[in-house]
Amino acid sequence: MKKTVTLTFSDGSPSIELPIEQGTYGKPVIDIRALGAHGYFTHDPGFTATSSCTSAITYIDGDEGLLYYRGYPIDELAYQSDYMEVSYLLLHGELPTAEQKTAFEQSIRHHTLLHDQMENVFRGFRRSAHPMAVMIGVTGAMSAFYHSGLDNFNPQHREVVAHRLIAKVPTVAAWAYKFNEGQPFVYPQNRLSYAENFMHMMFSSPCEPYEPNPVLARALDRIFILHADHEQNASTSTVRLAGSSGANPYACIASGMASLWGPLHGGANEAVLRMLEEMDHVSKIPEFIRRAKDKSDPFRLMGFGHRIYKNVDPRAAIIRQTCYEVLDELDLRDDPQFKIALELERIALEDEYFIARKLYPNVDFYSGIIFRALGIPTSMFTALFAMARTAGWVAQWHEMLSDPAHKIGRPRQLYTGSARREFVPIEQRKA
Ligand code: CMC
Repeated sequence: MKKTVTLTFSDGSPSIELPIEQGTYGKPVIDIRALGAHGYFTHDPGFTATSSCTSAITYIDGDEGLLYYRGYPIDELAYQSDYMEVSYLLLHGELPTAEQKTAFEQSIRHHTLLHDQMENVFRGFRRSAHPMAVMIGVTGAMSAFYHSGLDNFNPQHREVVAHRLIAKVPTVAAWAYKFNEGQPFVYPQNRLSYAENFMHMMFSSPCEPYEPNPVLARALDRIFILHADHEQNASTSTVRLAGSSGANPYACIASGMASLWGPLHGGANEAVLRMLEEMDHVSKIPEFIRRAKDKSDPFRLMGFGHRIYKNVDPRAAIIRQTCYEVLDELDLRDDPQFKIALELERIALEDEYFIARKLYPNVDFYSGIIFRALGIPTSMFTALFAMARTAGWVAQWHEMLSDPAHKIGRPRQLYTGSARREFVPIEQRKA
């Protein structure tokens, strides 16, 4: 028998019975859709207790520190798969066969070039523009290149959109960097893997070729896997909400990038490195910990805490391990920022404040150290997160539009403004 919950009211209004749904895993969910017909809405700022959709893509158990993509644990994918395969898995629901993987990779390679006119879009920005500002602008501008004839409700059209975005966003990111640097844009090389190609577009120039180091390319690919999806976080929810109106998908992904840019979300990896640079020496750690605990100080320990993970972020351990591998390969084991990060983690994890609030290092705590060791400038960190998350965003957008029951997203509110009042002509208004 289906479980239900009964809502009773202190003023004697008739009670309301609501169904309880249970997914494959996770906490039971009270289906409150019938409430509107009874004259009530629920109020949940920050959506801390609200499920906004059904999804079969990613599962997170924050208490146990679990993350699955389509049922596969993140560590198995990180160590045994690659980003192309994971992108296919997120989009299609199954791991590809060898033939499917080859066809998928070929399709992605086929779409890596940007329309020639797009160069002019880059050139409209100031040279000093933040790469995320450029990425949001250029990805949004793709909607001007791919709009007429696009039918969001046609699955084949959606597949082309997904492939185009996964393929082109790395080119957009690398070109945002090149534009910052005042260097010529480097075209994609389709003989290279996804991660190698990105490194090539970032680091080679017409006068100096660049041969990607396979150990470093593998590390980058693993970081992309770890960032590929994370269920209904702020940026993914933004993509879904924007897409729910039937909007152009390139514009929707640009809106997801805008949300990701914030320092509480994808901007945190950049903020972590700036914080470690500011710390400068392990002796300064106690001062930063004191500030993080001081409620009158807005400072937070960047790279610590997560809305969902209250035990361990399973991505953090993998990324710490990857950090060791990258620093070893580059002979940088004595990297001062890495030493500060390890010591900061050790001290914070023994501190009552962090223990009581279940604050642990998140995925962004070590990723910045890896990116910097690879020669990627701090301002590009969130751009790399956006690249990796594009696979998740398009998979979530595709899933939403595949659902025949999908509706435009339209949250309600608890109005706290003025009661009705009469308009006052300007000459009668008092200061
Ligand atoms: N440093 C110090 N105190 C913290 C931190 C932190 N990094 N994070 C949370 N707290 C405290 C917070 O002050 C509050 O304390 P109290 O209960 O005494 O008021 C308590 O912990 C709960 O915090 P919250 O803000 O209610 O938690 P949340 O779930 O709303 O926020 C978060 C989650 C990730 C925004 C937050 O932990 C944070 O700001 N972390 C730093 C930024 C960061 O690293 N973001 C990357 C997230 S992972 C990548 C991604 O998915 O985007």
